[in-house]
Amino acid sequence: MSNSPFLSAGTVDTIRDAAAALKAGHLVAFPTETVYGLGADARNPDSVRRIYELKGRPKDHPLIIHISSITQFEKWATEVPEYASSLAQAFWPGPITLILKRTDIVEDFITGGRNTVGLRVPNNPIALSLIQEFEKISDSAIAAPSANRFGQVSPTSSDDVREELGDLLAASDFILDGGKSIIGIESTIVDCSGNYPIILRSGFVSEEDIKTKLNIPYVSYMRNKDVNFSGSFEKHYAPRCQVILDSEIIVGAGFLALTEIETPIGLVRLASPDSVIEFAHMLYSTFRVADRLGLNALVVCPPIGGGLAVAINERLIKAAQGR
Ligand code: TXA
Ligand code: MG
Repeated sequence: MSNSPFLSAGTVDTIRDAAAALKAGHLVAFPTETVYGLGADARNPDSVRRIYELKGRPKDHPLIIHISSITQFEKWATEVPEYASSLAQAFWPGPITLILKRTDIVEDFITGGRNTVGLRVPNNPIALSLIQEFEKISDSAIAAPSANRFGQVSPTSSDDVREELGDLLAASDFILDGGKSIIGIESTIVDCSGNYPIILRSGFVSEEDIKTKLNIPYVSYMRNKDVNFSGSFEKHYAPRCQVILDSEIIVGAGFLALTEIETPIGLVRLASPDSVIEFAHMLYSTFRVADRLGLNALVVCPPIGGGLAVAINERLIKAAQGR
């Protein structure tokens, strides 16, 4: 047998085994509704160190802690403002990460030395039962970044995880398969450590959604204020091929656009999402298809509008700057 990690459909038994593996210090890649995560015991410095090594990620990039429900809030976060509790009530389980003041059990190796911590309750049955199982047998939760090498495209299937990290994971680690990620792009990140919410990374939960739920006028949007923030590096979200966002025609390049947009002559259509939601769902897998085909370039027509289109455009702009 090779030393490849244990790939398994996320059944009740394997989820229990995977939780035990986390407790023993091993890593577990698992599906979420956004993208696949690479999980470790959030209180085990050696396991968390392995995540950074495997991903090739700088140590000052903090990790999100995945918890099973809002009832775990107090364990990891303190001085939680009322608007943050409202966001958690409204959107958890779901694709939103809240940045809050941390409690003493959250250590520097998770937060890169900051006094805040990112928390999220993912909306995926395999992820939720893995977290619940792990919380039952430990006094901890699951720290997990996206399960890709640093600066690469986030994985949206267990095959993508194997492509990214398969050679680096050990036989004692797990990859849980849960099919394709329903949303396909990473969670919205909202800084809730101040007097009002600040969106640090856009996602499926939009600024409009947040304003509606909170009924407050002042949600602000801050792009890349924090240099250690995911996406602040040019290479983020970028495939190997060049991503081009204008109508330039490069013969033989790939093409990604909503279905109503015709394929320009000379381009190779890779996907035809028929809605903005489907566009997000297919975005990263289309990047991977372009790379698997060895294309030099991928021409993309960005979807127009607010909400999820904003989140897609945020990724596309970075991908286009990338290489
Ligand atoms: O959808 C997601 O959020 C996925 C799934 C697996 O949950 N996770 C994910 O993790 O995208 P990651 O590590 O690839 O991106 C999360 C970003 C980090 O780059 C980090 O900069 C930011 O969240 N972050 C985490 N904790 C933070 C904190 N305390 N302050 C500011 N930013 C933080
Ligand atoms: Mg990531």
